[in-house]
Amino acid sequence: MSAFPTTRLRRLRRTPGLRALVRETSLDVGDLAYPLFVCPGEGVTEPLEGLQGIGRRSVDVLCDEAEEAHRLGVPAVLLFGIPEEKDAVGSGAYADDGIVQRALRELRRRLPELVLITDVCLCEYTSHGHCGVIEGGEVLNDPSLELLARTAVSHVEAGADAVAPSDMMDGRVGAIRSALDAAGRESVPVIAYSAKFASAFYGPFREVADSAPAFGDRRSYQMDPANLREALRECALDIGEGADMIMVKPALPYLDVIRSVRDRFDVPLAAYNVSGEYAMVKAAAASGWLDERQAAIESLLAIKRAGADVIFTYWAKEAAAWL
Ligand code: PBG
Repeated sequence: MSAFPTTRLRRLRRTPGLRALVRETSLDVGDLAYPLFVCPGEGVTEPLEGLQGIGRRSVDVLCDEAEEAHRLGVPAVLLFGIPEEKDAVGSGAYADDGIVQRALRELRRRLPELVLITDVCLCEYTSHGHCGVIEGGEVLNDPSLELLARTAVSHVEAGADAVAPSDMMDGRVGAIRSALDAAGRESVPVIAYSAKFASAFYGPFREVADSAPAFGDRRSYQMDPANLREALRECALDIGEGADMIMVKPALPYLDVIRSVRDRFDVPLAAYNVSGEYAMVKAAAASGWLDERQAAIESLLAIKRAGADVIFTYWAKEAAAWL
């Protein structure tokens, strides 16, 4: 490559048209999935400070929000439930009339074309707030698998198009895959939160989902933020157990992980632009320190550039309007 002054990279940056021609990455509303929280009741919209514009919604209000997002072009939603009651074994997660199951039936009826993905985990449903069952202060792995598998099957029977296990128990993808197959649901994909890190950036989510652990933390099951090689092993194992799509979470502090996973594996890759990443921008924008729209689009573009095919983001609906 010849050097300056023959080469001047600014030539192709001179006008919006030239910049568009040489743009290497593009953001498409079709790549976005919108996480939503459903709670009991009717006509309920419970905004929460940490996750502005998201909060909790009863089934009817949730359907309206999903409909609006879908009309703007958002192809998929990811559902989380806040149950009436919690117990030690998270029964609300796999109850036939559980909150997510009720939302699924209604969404399926009203929006047959919207892709319905459910987060499969126990932490929103357990009284102790951990993602599996507890004995002697420990989160047990194998006994949790059966409950997670039951949850996944119950979501699919209620209308889910795909299930996304986020608990980080070993072997959950395989357990869910076999349970779905045994239930005659071999055509339903599993989107595995494969490289899910024990992150401080889930703070606002835990307030909305009321799922902060009552004791200890999640470091005995979610990954150490320091580990990249282990993230690749998690992905390899999940693909081996039948994951159809894998995920890296959070996204922005882990762009290197997204890039490495993209380079190593050929399955579709999702990234979760989590609650803390969203809240930071919202808070800074509210103080007038940055432009929310530009910062959000730049964040999402960076996640795509790193290699994600699909982005789970609380900006999905707003971004659909911006794009
Ligand atoms: C459930 C779950 C969490 C998130 C997604 N699924 C919380 C956690 O692991 O504590 C976080 C999402 C976000 O912060 O936006 N296990």
